Amino acid sequence: MTSRMAFVAAIAVTLMLISSAPAQCTAEEFLWGTATSAYQIEGAWDVDGKGMSIWDEFVRRNGTTIKDNSTADIACRSYEKYKEDVQLLKQLGVNSYRFSISWPRVLPNGTLAGGINEKGIQYYVNLVDELLANGIQPLATLYHWDLPLTLQNEFEGWESEQIIPHFVDYAELMFERLGDKSSGGSHSMSPGYLPCLVTVWVPTRLEQKTL
Ligand SMILES: *[C@@H]1O[C@H](CO)[C@@H](O)[C@H](O)[C@H]1NC(C)=O
Ligand SMILES: *[C@@H]1O[C@H](CO)[C@@H](O)[C@H](O)[C@H]1NC(C)=O
Ligand SMILES: *[C@@H]1O[C@H](CO)[C@@H](O)[C@H](O)[C@H]1NC(C)=O
Repeated sequence: MTSRMAFVAAIAVTLMLISSAPAQCTAEEFLWGTATSAYQIEGAWDVDGKGMSIWDEFVRRNGTTIKDNSTADIACRSYEKYKEDVQLLKQLGVNSYRFSISWPRVLPNGTLAGGINEKGIQYYVNLVDELLANGIQPLATLYHWDLPLTLQNEFEGWESEQIIPHFVDYAELMFERLGDKSSGGSHSMSPGYLPCLVTVWVPTRLEQKTL
């Protein structure tokens, strides 16, 4: 399967419908969209200053976690080919796209103190601009299971309350950098999904609990 086909397959299986109104709404109010996660599609796992996520570490345990040693190091290469991917979305005729932001791509160490990776942020700015230019509403997920490895190693990630200020810093940073995309134009940037599922599937813990 080519990486383009993989991308189409990834978004096709997650084809979804988001209603912007709770009760009755018109056809124009519906968001028809597709969804992906950063680890699933971006590739470029160690490019342009990105830090390691818990997934990057988990898949590298020498054949003990992933049977065929496969990784998403390359995946659909969407980090590199996001413009082509936006054209594929356009061809599908959707008017929204939910993607996730890789926390260690923008904060390699998980923390503001560890430094902001401007190249990583620029990737998401470019993606959002490309989506808006093509009439597709971006919906950003702040967390889709690819926690910065440093936070997992230092205090067990989501299992510790110590994560709260770091997540707040990260969220504020992304709102600051992407939030202004909502001012002006008919398409707004609406950071939509918050990490309500985070503790149910952290790969490093999954292994230890032998589910
Ligand atoms: C995997 O094997 C390499 C080479 O033998 C070793 O350097 C590395 O520490 C191992 N990684 C893990 C997670 O065991
Ligand atoms: C996966 O990696 C381990 C450790 O390097 C190796 O022993 C095993 O043969 C690999 N499995 C496959 C399917 O390549
Ligand atoms: C990066 O994270 C590690 C582990 O959490 C920490 O020990 C280190 O001080 C951090 N570095 C910076 C520059 O914040």
